[in-house]
Amino acid sequence: MKIIEIIGNKELTGTIKVSGAKNSAVALIPAAILCDEDVILENVPDISDTYDLFNILDLLNIQKDYKNNELKLDLKNMKNCEIKKELSQKLRASYYFMGALLGKFKKVTIYFPGGCSIGARPIDYHIKGFKQMGVNIKIDNDKYELDARNLHGADIYLDFESVGATINLILAATKAKGLTVIHNAAREPEIVNVATFLNSMGAKISGAGTNEITIEGVNYLKKGRGEIIPDRIEALTYIIIGALVGKNLKIENIIPSHIQASLSKLKEIGVDYIENKNSIIINSKKNYKATNIKTLVYPGFPTDVAQPFSVLLTQCSGLSNIKETIFENRMGHMPYLNKMGANIKYNLKEANIKGPTKLKGEEVTATDLRAGAALVCAGLKAEGKTVIFDAEHVLRGYGHLEEKLTNVGAKINIKEI
Ligand code: UD1
Repeated sequence: MKIIEIIGNKELTGTIKVSGAKNSAVALIPAAILCDEDVILENVPDISDTYDLFNILDLLNIQKDYKNNELKLDLKNMKNCEIKKELSQKLRASYYFMGALLGKFKKVTIYFPGGCSIGARPIDYHIKGFKQMGVNIKIDNDKYELDARNLHGADIYLDFESVGATINLILAATKAKGLTVIHNAAREPEIVNVATFLNSMGAKISGAGTNEITIEGVNYLKKGRGEIIPDRIEALTYIIIGALVGKNLKIENIIPSHIQASLSKLKEIGVDYIENKNSIIINSKKNYKATNIKTLVYPGFPTDVAQPFSVLLTQCSGLSNIKETIFENRMGHMPYLNKMGANIKYNLKEANIKGPTKLKGEEVTATDLRAGAALVCAGLKAEGKTVIFDAEHVLRGYGHLEEKLTNVGAKINIKEI
């Protein structure tokens, strides 16, 4: 098991550079296999989810070269085969191989995906959409066999603006016969990133970033180069750390328009920051004001940010409230924040945070990726030593965490026990 040790309450100053977005990378890597020539992806983050996807590429006999965040794929000898259970269950995004392999080979055998335990996370919208596109689906426990002799376009209405279902259906539709329209599609920037990349290879996708996406199927995708957008969730995690313990802390390689909902909440509670074209400079201060947050699909307040943000709310005067509307359980970090001195009453749907409270170092456990990120934020603010167990969750989404924070003055180290 990996643990993160932090000696907290140190002022952080300097520059933190945000990496490529996890949620884009885990979609663009499967998207790349739709290509009929070679592919290069830039700004691929050095996180464990990336390496878990590499294991699937190896299984499919794809040659890869990953250096300095650039990933080159040679797809000449690619073959289709069952994506083994242990590889499917390593991460959520393994399910993008459903859409990608359907597009490429019209056939895929895979298992129910893994990922953070933050709720039931069914994949019924993906399955319903694939069925409308002519895919026969056999489900045996957690094994999914998808087969489409005639993969064709369809008019699909999503019951909810699901990020995963939107991307998976785009992947399948890119090489399906005819026109697919996804209504009530999710609008996250990562979806635009996937569509832009596929279009650069000759796909015909329009409307990404809106609720209605149209895909005209093509037979061939030419040589491609794609660039992963900066990670808006990683950026916001470091911005929150800046609001807690920053002194002229610069967070660079960000796209401010992707994080507006969260920036406006920071402004509302009284955080001081300077917004530049692709960076933010932030200073922590005392006397933040309590606020209410409701998580929503993009462009609303991101569910992934609510967990780290809850740490900042422990430092606000008054009663703050977080309502979680996307997942059933994003409160895994709350008992540990209370152990560290916070005053939070919570159930699975909402949390009431009374502040300000002093935080002190404790032994805590990361129950999922963003719960772990929240505990890192809390550990950096707390007086004394914090030890975070099950740190693997955090490393799934935060590349070079130790190095990035040490470089700005944090006392943090990650070790295997
Ligand atoms: C993605 C992100 C995750 C983020 C989430 C919401 C990736 C790899 N992960 O997750 O970081 O927190 O978007 O922004 O990009 N649902 C169903 N049936 C389905 C699909 C989804 O009921 O077939 C439900 C889910 O259980 C959840 C809600 O819809 O309650 C939203 O899920 P979705 O947008 O699909 O999230 P993910 O793609 O899993």
